[in-house]
Amino acid sequence: MSQNLPNLVITGFMGTGKTTVGKEVARLLGRTFYDFDCIIEQRMKSSIKDIFEKYGEGYFRDIESKIATEFVNKTDAVIATGGGTLLFNNNYSILSENSIIFCLTAQKNILRKRLENSFGRPLLAGGTLSERIECLLNEREALYQKLPNPIDTSNLSIVEAACKIIEIYNQYLVTKKYNADKK
Ligand code: S3P
Repeated sequence: MSQNLPNLVITGFMGTGKTTVGKEVARLLGRTFYDFDCIIEQRMKSSIKDIFEKYGEGYFRDIESKIATEFVNKTDAVIATGGGTLLFNNNYSILSENSIIFCLTAQKNILRKRLENSFGRPLLAGGTLSERIECLLNEREALYQKLPNPIDTSNLSIVEAACKIIEIYNQYLVTKKYNADKK
């Protein structure tokens, strides 16, 4: 049932738990869950890795932005973005129109552990896992830090992280400050 309430957008670096936590948030709230990477793979009938290889990152970023604009008129959704989505184009301002944004973080050693068996992430290729995490975080950390509602998932269970998000979300609903933290 649509309640016309703002979406919850869950973003953050790879391995911070966007998809797992997002699914739990959706389950607890009884909302529909959307995952940007899954939507892209279904539309393109191709894996993210193959899309990067065949068409390049720029093309992938364009599709991400197109999907972001499709959510402009949607409400009540729980959305896990890709790790870079909100750092590119104007995806942040598009999505923050009708969504509360949460940025998951995690300590580097935890990211390494969570990502060590990851094979479908093209941006982690081309160096050791530690080097790639270090390099990408150097490029991105300052940008992630500008995003609202940071939640460090390093020592949280999936349910704990989901409940934290819901608690903050409910505060927004009570105060109706949906657009208060725009960059
Ligand atoms: C990316 C993260 C990936 C995926 C793509 C690019 C990024 O999503 O969108 O490989 O730029 O950080 P996950 O964070 O879900 O792995």
